[in-house]
Amino acid sequence: MATHSVGIDFGTTNTSIAIVHSDGSIELGQFPFLGRLTDAYRSLLYFEQVAGAAGAPPVTYCWTGPAGIEHYLSADSQGRLIQSLKSFLAVRNMEGTQVFEKKRTIEELIGRILADVRAEASRQFGIDIRHATVGRPVRFVGADNLDDDHYAEDRLADAFNLAGFDTIAFELEPVAAAHEYESRLDHDELILIGDFGGGTSDFSLVRVGPTVRENGRTDEDLLGNAGVGIAGDAFDAQIVRRLVSPALGSRSQFQSMDKLLPMPAWPYSNLERWHHLSLMKTGEVIEQLERIKAQALEPKMIGYLIHLIRYDLGYQLHRSVQKLKTELSTWTTSEFEFRDGDLWLRSTVDRAWFEGWIEHELQQIEMCVDGLLASTGVQPKQVDAVFLTGGSSFVPAVRRIFQSRFGAAKIRAGHEFTSVAMGLARQAAERS
Ligand SMILES: Nc1ncnc2c1ncn2[C@@H]1O[C@H](COP(=O)(O)OP(=O)(O)OP(=O)(O)O)[C@@H](O)[C@H]1O
Ligand SMILES: [Mg+2]
Repeated sequence: MATHSVGIDFGTTNTSIAIVHSDGSIELGQFPFLGRLTDAYRSLLYFEQVAGAAGAPPVTYCWTGPAGIEHYLSADSQGRLIQSLKSFLAVRNMEGTQVFEKKRTIEELIGRILADVRAEASRQFGIDIRHATVGRPVRFVGADNLDDDHYAEDRLADAFNLAGFDTIAFELEPVAAAHEYESRLDHDELILIGDFGGGTSDFSLVRVGPTVRENGRTDEDLLGNAGVGIAGDAFDAQIVRRLVSPALGSRSQFQSMDKLLPMPAWPYSNLERWHHLSLMKTGEVIEQLERIKAQALEPKMIGYLIHLIRYDLGYQLHRSVQKLKTELSTWTTSEFEFRDGDLWLRSTVDRAWFEGWIEHELQQIEMCVDGLLASTGVQPKQVDAVFLTGGSSFVPAVRRIFQSRFGAAKIRAGHEFTSVAMGLARQAAERS
């Protein structure tokens, strides 16, 4: 049986896949997107239903990743866009969601994304991919204990299984990133990896380098790991809370009997988390919101909220938030804009405000890093380099956490969206 050294990083926001060829060269999966190629396959699905011919039942179509976005953007009908599913894996009471007439489990939905990635990459690499080393966070989003964490890993394994994989081997995402970083080293180092994605921030303290590789890795080379379910999606939540929710009624009131009550929190806490917003579009939720709207002091605002859910505008909202966040990583000020019919939100945002909004999240990330140093007894001065990767590592306030502890000269970066997949593939090659 031929085995191939394939690594797959199923991320909350992006999935990437890499292969190490027999000559040692590495190749990334490349996917067509709006006329160009991308190696970051958006971890999303888009479902659309079209009427069946001559009385036949309707037909449901599903696209994932870049094709999902393309169809979503060009569609005029009301489909279903589902994103950030990885954040549901540890949530025991979240089995799945109704998509049109069919109930689909989280495993099935993720499996569908992975099946498409597998098929497209199999074509590109010229092999039938059935084995892979796959990433997992140190701690899944929403996992309160180790049992939850194992439960999430088992569900992810089931999703790979449904996608046609025969065997998979799990590796921690930051450890995989360490392998990628090591591939550029000509000397040994003790490194701290920080991988900041959409759902989780993950850390590993690892000894890497040619000697470690040649002598064979031992458990002692991995000094420790730590992780927290706070990253880009949690930063986005703060942006939505400040710039979007108020215009959709979060600070408004509704009439209940002879009392005025504040709007319930649940529609807005769901609106602020991409994975929850994705599953909000049910008849029951829309009915509940319509009832609230009928008693609301500002029904127009609740109408906007209902419209956003009914027409599945989560992707557009995500895109507006993403644009603001990305620009604030480069500039100290940027424009936020979200337009939907006569709802037109525009504001100028200073980076300093954004940093204030995410202060609590940054503190939790800092506590996680400091906890790892404390539990391993490693002093910052003993760390030779700090490799920051993942899309959220672009956030200047995230980088500052490391600059202040380790000094700017020790910070390394690169391959933000692909280092984990490449490291996983290298590890698969090393194992075989
Ligand atoms: N320039 C940027 N500035 C700030 N944030 C960014 C930038 N580019 C991407 N991001 C954020 O990075 C996140 C995606 O990063 P990445 O692809 O590494 O995550 P992931 O691997 O899918 O998630 P996870 O590892 O948590 O499962 C998103 O939250 C995105 O908004
Ligand atoms: Mg990641």
